[in-house]
Amino acid sequence: MTNYETSMRSHRCGDLRVDDVGKEVTLCGWVDRRREHGEHLAFIDLRDRSGVIQVVVQGAADLRSEYVLQVKGKVRERPSETVNNSLDTGGIEVEGSEVVVLAESEPPPFPIDDRTDVDEVLRLRHRYVDLRRSRLQNNLQSRALVTSSVRKAMEKQGFVEVETPMLVASTPEGARDFVVPSRKDPGSFYALPQSPQIFKQLCMLGGIDRYYQIARCLRDEDLRADRQYEFMQLDIEASFVNGEDIRDIVSSAVSEATEAVTGEKITTIPSMTWQEAMERFGSDKPDIRFGLELVDLTDLFKSTEFRAFQAPCIKGIRVPGGAEYSRSRLDELTDKSQNWGAKGLAWIKIEDSEMVSPISKFLSEEEKTSLKSKMSGEEGDLLLLVADEWSTVCHVLGLVRLEIGKPPINEGGFHFLWVIDFPLFEGTDENGNPSSSHHPFTMPHEDDLVLLENGETEGIRSLAYDLVLNGWELGSGSVRIHRQDIQQRIFTALGIEPDEARKRFGFLLDAFKFGAPPHAGFAVGLDRLTAILVGEENIREVIAFPKTQSGSDPLTSAPLPVDDRHLKELGLKVLPPST
Ligand code: AMO
Ligand code: AMP
Repeated sequence: MTNYETSMRSHRCGDLRVDDVGKEVTLCGWVDRRREHGEHLAFIDLRDRSGVIQVVVQGAADLRSEYVLQVKGKVRERPSETVNNSLDTGGIEVEGSEVVVLAESEPPPFPIDDRTDVDEVLRLRHRYVDLRRSRLQNNLQSRALVTSSVRKAMEKQGFVEVETPMLVASTPEGARDFVVPSRKDPGSFYALPQSPQIFKQLCMLGGIDRYYQIARCLRDEDLRADRQYEFMQLDIEASFVNGEDIRDIVSSAVSEATEAVTGEKITTIPSMTWQEAMERFGSDKPDIRFGLELVDLTDLFKSTEFRAFQAPCIKGIRVPGGAEYSRSRLDELTDKSQNWGAKGLAWIKIEDSEMVSPISKFLSEEEKTSLKSKMSGEEGDLLLLVADEWSTVCHVLGLVRLEIGKPPINEGGFHFLWVIDFPLFEGTDENGNPSSSHHPFTMPHEDDLVLLENGETEGIRSLAYDLVLNGWELGSGSVRIHRQDIQQRIFTALGIEPDEARKRFGFLLDAFKFGAPPHAGFAVGLDRLTAILVGEENIREVIAFPKTQSGSDPLTSAPLPVDDRHLKELGLKVLPPST
């Protein structure tokens, strides 16, 4: 056991047990609560990182909440009627003989317990007080455990930790860069790294062979529950490996972290192709903790008379027991589906063996019978259908599925999943050129190289893979292109002219001329991993000093204007906000 003894304390408050009865102890901590007992006696709950213990003191009139105390006294058993079984130290108390006030405190801005719901800005403005709550104390300890266990796992597998720079040229991750003006070269800017992507590939060229880093990444993007401007990655790259090798390496690191924090052993992590994930769950990050899978009905309705169902694709979800849904719940689901891009959401209830629905009259008896059997519909079920382009159908029903069935993040254990064979291209940029799903250095699937050669972009798979946990994207990676001819073909497909490619990535392309080993890599979001392992829905709860949803820090008031002298030195001028 760790020894916490210092010149100021002998034990930590929360570590004392019945075995310590009779010991003289010296404790340091904050006054958590104070209860008067008669005129001269008070019970004080003294709190430090390890927990709280009750201290009985005489004449405690001037000891208030959050005062910092040093207490000397003797551990004794509590009278049986005052034992508190909800506390680890609930069977004992310290009879205080000497109390030194190390620091006074103003009344705290909010109660320091895990029950009170406090406004986000108030919490972050006084984060140092917020951090005293046991929820955050535990979360930060779990976070440290995640970091140390993945580090151990990487070292065990022969990876070398390499630090890469924070002042860089732009990185190709697709979010906006945070930029830093150069004083020596006014008008020029560094970017803060969105990830160490380029440098880790350069490490492979440098023969480092197995690189990892617990890397800080910065992206100027809209913040959400699973996104902050600054976040940490377990960043990995290795040479002479394929995608499967990388997935094994990552699997053992995340398994180690999961076991360290939760005690749960992860044996194997299943894989699913992107195509299957979309078809069955309508998502590239399927939450496989629950069913409600999408069922394809396109063939069933291929000669339908119902106009709304005359579409390239139609799929449905069976909601067991969903016939109980009220009209307003169904209207709400329909509105949401339309906001997500569907033209409508058709619903059919199975009640008294009838298919009850506003669209029932548009469907033939044969269609209704086949639908019920194809979807294994039973009495009391609700069927929800969307007809549209394949991607819209999957997208909308995927969201409907989550809306109806998603359990809280801390329910049902830890369901990791590898999603493999992502498409190489996704959507188009402002010039109508295809965009990379991952980044332009991702290797196409070997079986689809011929499609690429024929100038096609649709349906080309890549050697890119994601790790998903309980419906969150936990990490991404890919096998990289190490051959110049393939890289050139990708740039052509992306509409990146040779000049442009040289300007953006010339140094990397040059580097690849000097003996590039085949290599592949991955990055795990450590904030997300920790949040899920401790059951938090927002990564802010596992970050010591996060930003608010609007990107500010109420504690330090960042971001702030800089003074004119500083701007001048940097050759910058601030324009009034455009209206
Ligand atoms: P990617 O951009 O997918 O891949 O990022 C990998 C993982 O980092 C986490 N992450 C974030 N976490 C919190 N806040 C954010 N704003 C944020 N953005 C990303 C996620 C995500 O899955 N260089 C590639 C990896 C590679 O190819 O090796 C990369 O960064 O958990
Ligand atoms: P309409 O014919 O547009 O009045 O729609 C009749 C019913 O079919 C409504 O309940 C719509 O929500 C539903 N609906 C319309 N278009 C679609 C579609 N593309 N997919 C699923 N349901 C639809």
